[in-house]
Amino acid sequence: MSSITSNEAAWIPTEKATCEVGPGPVPNPKENEVVIEVAYAAVNAIDYLMQDTPYVPLPYPSIFGSDIAGTIVQLGSSVTRFMIGQRVIGECDNLLTQNPSHAGFQRFATCAEIMVAAIPDSLPLAKAAVLPLCYSTAGCALFKHLRLPLPSLDPKPIEKTILLWGGSSSVGCSAIHLAVAAGLTVVTTAGAQNHDLVTSLGAKFVIDYNSPTVIEEVLKVLKTGDLVVDCISIPATQVICTEIVHKLGGGKLPVLRWPEASKYDDVEMIFVNGGDPVLVDLDIGDALWRKYLPEALATGKFVPKPDPEIIEGGLGKVQEGIDIVRKGVSAKKIVIEVAKEA
Ligand SMILES: NC(=O)c1ccc[n+]([C@@H]2O[C@H](COP(=O)([O-])OP(=O)(O)OC[C@H]3O[C@@H](n4cnc5c(N)ncnc54)[C@H](OP(=O)(O)O)[C@@H]3O)[C@@H](O)[C@H]2O)c1
Repeated sequence: MSSITSNEAAWIPTEKATCEVGPGPVPNPKENEVVIEVAYAAVNAIDYLMQDTPYVPLPYPSIFGSDIAGTIVQLGSSVTRFMIGQRVIGECDNLLTQNPSHAGFQRFATCAEIMVAAIPDSLPLAKAAVLPLCYSTAGCALFKHLRLPLPSLDPKPIEKTILLWGGSSSVGCSAIHLAVAAGLTVVTTAGAQNHDLVTSLGAKFVIDYNSPTVIEEVLKVLKTGDLVVDCISIPATQVICTEIVHKLGGGKLPVLRWPEASKYDDVEMIFVNGGDPVLVDLDIGDALWRKYLPEALATGKFVPKPDPEIIEGGLGKVQEGIDIVRKGVSAKKIVIEVAKEA
């Protein structure tokens, strides 16, 4: 088995500082971990949020990055699900575990086996790199907090509709796929330019969130007891989604950023942590990462979206990618080409 003797990483040297490329941690995987040679690493909102306002204390220097796609180069002694050279995606948990070897913005990243999925040869690594954190986050909202049936390639239809607010976001795209794979009917909101995208993923109804009558339009296709996830979770969408859940008779509202106070006693806002399925609720991680995703990708039932916008130029481009995401994107994921795919 090959052993890696050097590494390179995009470090955040001190709190709120910008990225600097330097030697990275030499990987030393535990028995249940794999080392991935990173070809592409995607940028998430958490990367600029943690750079601007670090709300979790981190040891510095630190390495960010949650999403990688590349090739397996080292296997922990108990890992039997993968082979050296296999093309995979992986979710990196450094922001939660504070282990810099487990960060995405480096040449060689280590992931626990449960956070890794093989991808088919026909799927370019850059397209698959958009998935990990947002896929886990969507799965956590649906299967941990709303307790939907676990996703299946051949789902049994359920007489329930779910509103996924913000279907053209990265979390939204994965949530549409997963809710359909749980057997639900999906209603979503998106800008007019992204309606074709969300319907192609399986949404039955799509409503422009810029419409002044968006709440009324959404309520026309929902009934009491239907479900809602706020896949955007800025204060304005939390207010709207809370109102909708209240009008549907109350219940849980999974949100992806820290919940604002709800003005309705019958709406329980729950914070969704995208790390939970791979660190805490391992039955859900098993269903999402080992059982459903590899086969769904291989059969084309799960199409990774949104499309990547690739920033070439290696780890020195990570800060540029973070700065683009901070400004906001529409139905695209910023993906750094860390190294050319071999
Ligand atoms: N808790 C966690 O573990 C976790 C993990 C990942 C992400 N998050 C959070 O989840 C949220 C989504 O992240 P993401 O990466 O999926 O976002 P993203 O892809 O960057 O979101 C971009 C999309 O948001 C849509 N959008 C913007 N404002 C909207 C509104 N008012 N209503 C509906 N859609 C709106 C835009 O739609 P159009 O272009 O169609 O207009 C755009 O396509 C963020 O708040 C992020 O911080 C949390």
